[in-house]
Amino acid sequence: MIISPSVLSLNYADTKSQISELNASKAEWLHFDVMDGHFVPNLTFGPDILKAFCKSSPLYKDVHLMVEDPAFYGDIFMDAGADLITFHYEAVDEKDIITLADHIHQKGKKAGISIKPKTDAEVLKPYLPYFDLVLVMSVEPGFGGQKFMPDSLEKIRNLRSWIDEAGLDVRIEVDGGINAETGKLCKDAGADVLVAGSYVFKNDIGKAVESLV
Ligand code: DX5
Ligand code: ZN
Repeated sequence: MIISPSVLSLNYADTKSQISELNASKAEWLHFDVMDGHFVPNLTFGPDILKAFCKSSPLYKDVHLMVEDPAFYGDIFMDAGADLITFHYEAVDEKDIITLADHIHQKGKKAGISIKPKTDAEVLKPYLPYFDLVLVMSVEPGFGGQKFMPDSLEKIRNLRSWIDEAGLDVRIEVDGGINAETGKLCKDAGADVLVAGSYVFKNDIGKAVESLV
């Protein structure tokens, strides 16, 4: 299981020690929730924060764009050091989805596509061959600390069977309300990557990550 702590919930008053705890933990990725205040009613960080993390952590930079213009911000965050760019299905016209995935790949990065809780997983079926990852939102995007939505499990199971039937190499990432209990449910449903914010940063980082692996 790949664990990707969401730095949205990091204690920024104690950044340095939090990052060294993350680096020493079993986390392999760092999850960056980029929000533009339009696609979701919250505003988070720009590329300079990502650059700072790139200087202080070797962990894989998993950037989750909750923005109205993922093509524009995708380039900005790829240039700032993102390894993976995930954008929302709901933020683009269907006719542009494959082009954007191809553009991300041309820049040597991995491409992910995400769906909100109210969006059916079926919409992603035709696009699976073009992506490295699908991100199932198990909370309404915008804020950390929300409760896991159990309907997400059916989506994970369906995506897992579609991906496996087609013999594709696509990871399933789940994001929102993840703790040891909900993380296990997602793992059993076929998830490969777990994003956790409040559960990791409100507890001992190393132990919380360990409990999710
Ligand atoms: C929500 C973000 C999630 C969030 C997860 O919009 O995409 O990554 O930070 O936070 P928790 O784990 O606290 O639900
Ligand atoms: Zn996220």
